[in-house]
Amino acid sequence: MAENASLNRIPDSTLFLKAIFDSISEEIMVIDATGTIHDVNKVFLDQCGLPREAVVGKKCYEIRALSGNPCHIDRYDCPMHRAKQNNERVEVIHRYRQPGALERELTRIMYPISTGAKDGPYFVEISTDVTEYRNLIRRLKAEKKRFSTILDTATDAVICIDKDHKIILFNAAAQRIFAYTGEEVLNRDLNLLIPPQYGNHYRLLNQFLETRSPPEMGADLKLTALRKGGEEFPVELGLSFYEIEGDITFTAIVKDISMQKQLEKKLLQSERLAAVGKTVAHVAHEIKNPLMIIGGFSHQIRDALTDEKSIQKLDMILEEVRRLERLVRSIGDFTKVHNLVSRMSNINSVLQDVVKIMQGFCSPEKHRFSVDLAPDLSEIICDPDKLKQVFINIITNGLEAMEEGGTIAITTQKAMDSVEIRISDEGVGIHEKDLLHIFEPFFTTRERGFGLGLAISYKLIEAHGGEMWADSVPGKGTTFVIRLPTGQ
Ligand SMILES: Nc1ncnc2c1ncn2[C@@H]1O[C@H](COP(=O)(O)OP(=O)(O)OP(=O)(O)O)[C@@H](O)[C@H]1O
Ligand SMILES: [Mg+2]
Repeated sequence: MAENASLNRIPDSTLFLKAIFDSISEEIMVIDATGTIHDVNKVFLDQCGLPREAVVGKKCYEIRALSGNPCHIDRYDCPMHRAKQNNERVEVIHRYRQPGALERELTRIMYPISTGAKDGPYFVEISTDVTEYRNLIRRLKAEKKRFSTILDTATDAVICIDKDHKIILFNAAAQRIFAYTGEEVLNRDLNLLIPPQYGNHYRLLNQFLETRSPPEMGADLKLTALRKGGEEFPVELGLSFYEIEGDITFTAIVKDISMQKQLEKKLLQSERLAAVGKTVAHVAHEIKNPLMIIGGFSHQIRDALTDEKSIQKLDMILEEVRRLERLVRSIGDFTKVHNLVSRMSNINSVLQDVVKIMQGFCSPEKHRFSVDLAPDLSEIICDPDKLKQVFINIITNGLEAMEEGGTIAITTQKAMDSVEIRISDEGVGIHEKDLLHIFEPFFTTRERGFGLGLAISYKLIEAHGGEMWADSVPGKGTTFVIRLPTGQ
C-alpha cells in the first residue's frame, strides 16, 4: 500500500519534484478523497515524529495530533471537505494543544489536484506553524496599545518627525497645546509649529544628520512656538532620535512653559519691589522736610529779588524743587500700602472722565482719542480714583511715546469673570528686553522720567485683585491690557 500510494503515482511527479517536496520547510501531506494519506514530506514526519511507514496509508485525522476523529465530526473545520465540494483552495486555522504543551496555531491550506485518475482527486495540504508569528502580532498589538495609552495620557506634547522634518506623530497633549488636530499637522513640516525664525531646530537637525553627534541632542532647548491661532508661546524642547535600517525618526517632547514664565516674572517683580521699597521710602521721608524748607525760602528770596538774572536762576531752583516734590509724592504713592476706597463704579464712566482730563492737556491737532466702550459692561467694586490714576499714568506714557502725534485708542470689553481695558498708542513702542522691566520702580528711558508711573499703577491694579501687562511692537506702538475682576 505504501509503495502504491507514493507520490510517484501522480503522473507529473519527478524525482526533481520529490527533492523540492522534501526540502520545503512547511509540512506537506497528500491525501485522497477518503482522507487516506498517500505521501508526506520530511518536515511532516519530523513534526509528528513517526516513520513514513507509520503514516502513509493511515487516515489523516489518525495521524494529526488534533484528535482521532474526522475533522468535521470534531470541532475542527475539515478543509478537505470544502475543497472537495468547491474544487478550490481552502485555508483554515487550526489551534491545538498537546498535553503539557502550549497552544499551537497552524494555517492549513488544502489544494484539490485533479489528476484524471479513476480513484478520484487528490488533495495537497500545506501546513504552516504560525504560533510564533501570531504571538508576535499579538505582542506588537499590545505594545502599540500600551504605547498609545502612554502617549495620550502624557501632559507634554510628543511630536515625531522624519528626516525631512515631516510630522509623523502628534499626541493628544500636542493637539491641546498647539490647538491643531492630528490630521491638520500630520505630514506637514515642523516649521508649522516651531518656525525657523524662532528656533534653531533646523540647524540642530541638519547638524545631526551630517555629524550624527550633535552636542545639543538630548539637552533641553528653550524656543518660541506658535499655536494655530498665531499666538507665540515659550516652550522647552527635549530632542532624541532613533534609527531603524537607516530611517531616522526624531522625537521632540515639548513642554508649554508660558505659565511658568509668567509666574517667574511675577515673583521676580514682587521680590524686587519689596527690596527697593523700604530703602526708597526712608530716603524720601528724609528729603521731604529739607525740600519744604528749600522751596519756602526760595519763594521768599525770589519775591525780594529785582535782578532779572537772579530771578531766572531762582525760577530754575523752584522748578527743580517742584520736580523733587513730585518725586517724593510718587515714592510715597509707590511705597505706601494702598487702602482702597471701594464702591460700585462703572469703568466706562471712569475712563470717560480720564479722557476729558487728558484732552485738556494735549492739542487736538496732534493727539486724538478713539474710545470704544462696551455698552453692556457691568459695574464693579473698585476705587475709581485710584483707577483714574492708573489710566492717567498709562495715557501720559502713551502721549509721551508719540511725540510726532497719534491716536490713543481705549476699549473696554466683558471677559469671563473680569472687565478688560485696553489702552493703545501709536508711539515708539518698547523693546522686548525693556518689556521685562517697565513695571519695576525707577526703570525709565526718559530723560525727565522717574520710572515710577507704571510701578505705582501695577501696585494699584494688584490691590484690586486684577492684572496688567503690555504688548508692544517697536516702531508701531504699545497696548496696555488691564483685567479687573467683576466679583470682588
Ligand atoms: N506707551 C509707552 N510707549 C513706550 N514706552 C513706554 C510706554 N509706557 C512705558 N514705557 C516705558 O516704560 C518706562 C517706565 O514707564 P513709567 O511710566 O513707569 O516711568 P516714566 O514714564 O519713565 O516716568 P514717570 O515716573 O514720570 O511716569 C518708560 O520710561 C518707557 O521706557
Ligand atoms: Mg510714566
